[in-house]
Amino acid sequence: MPNMIEAIDVDKSFLSGEDTVEALRGVSFTVPEKTCTFIVGPSGSGKSTLLYLLGALDRPTSGTIRIADEDVTAMNESQQDVYRRNKVGFVYQSFNLISNLSCLDNVLLPYIPSGVTSELRDKAVELLKQVGVGNRLKHKPSQLSGGQQQRVAIARALVKDPVVILADEPTGNLDRSGGDAIVQLLRSRESTLLVVTHDRRFITPDDRVLEIEDGLLKTNC
Ligand SMILES: Nc1ncnc2c1ncn2[C@@H]1O[C@H](COP(=O)(O)OP(=O)(O)O)[C@@H](O)[C@H]1O
Ligand SMILES: [Mg+2]
Repeated sequence: MPNMIEAIDVDKSFLSGEDTVEALRGVSFTVPEKTCTFIVGPSGSGKSTLLYLLGALDRPTSGTIRIADEDVTAMNESQQDVYRRNKVGFVYQSFNLISNLSCLDNVLLPYIPSGVTSELRDKAVELLKQVGVGNRLKHKPSQLSGGQQQRVAIARALVKDPVVILADEPTGNLDRSGGDAIVQLLRSRESTLLVVTHDRRFITPDDRVLEIEDGLLKTNC
């Protein structure tokens, strides 16, 4: 399988007051296309930071990240916008739903500027049904439970059939059977899948695992 992701010696530091936090320190790995990788590690170890860099939501302090043969770290802002819009389905740990839009419009948001076709609308409705909130299409995020908001955020990431799905603890607000169903759904897609989780029960022998501790990769893929 060709590689979908190649991370080479990635560092990420944050300035926090007088202090520098080294969130990632020399992280290198590859991910073949259409595989499933779980990112595990203690709280604060750098998991979300890594996912943000892969999604071009932030830039590494140094190092290179190539995705689908493109160097996302060398892109300018507008190239990164295009990359995020066309290639990445990102499930934020805190959902990032737009509070004054309905569930359906939240899922369709990336398409609103260019116009929403009836096919797209049907697809969004179908996805919201698949994730288990088909009866909440017109509800606003504040009218939903945390688990339901998480489901909407997942539908939003999937609607564009992204090349890469980056999901940050996508089952964090779901019960056991709800979590199983969502991981099953994510796995059923054609995308290359990376999932941050605290729950190792999702990991099967065929999956790849990136174990991070204190900004360092413990297992090398
Ligand atoms: N924007 C930021 N500013 C300062 N420090 C940050 C920022 N984002 C993350 N960090 C720090 O980087 C480290 C890794 O954070 P994070 O990637 O969110 O961990 P995880 O997702 O594994 O819990 C933590 O010490 C965190 O406090
Ligand atoms: Mg996190």
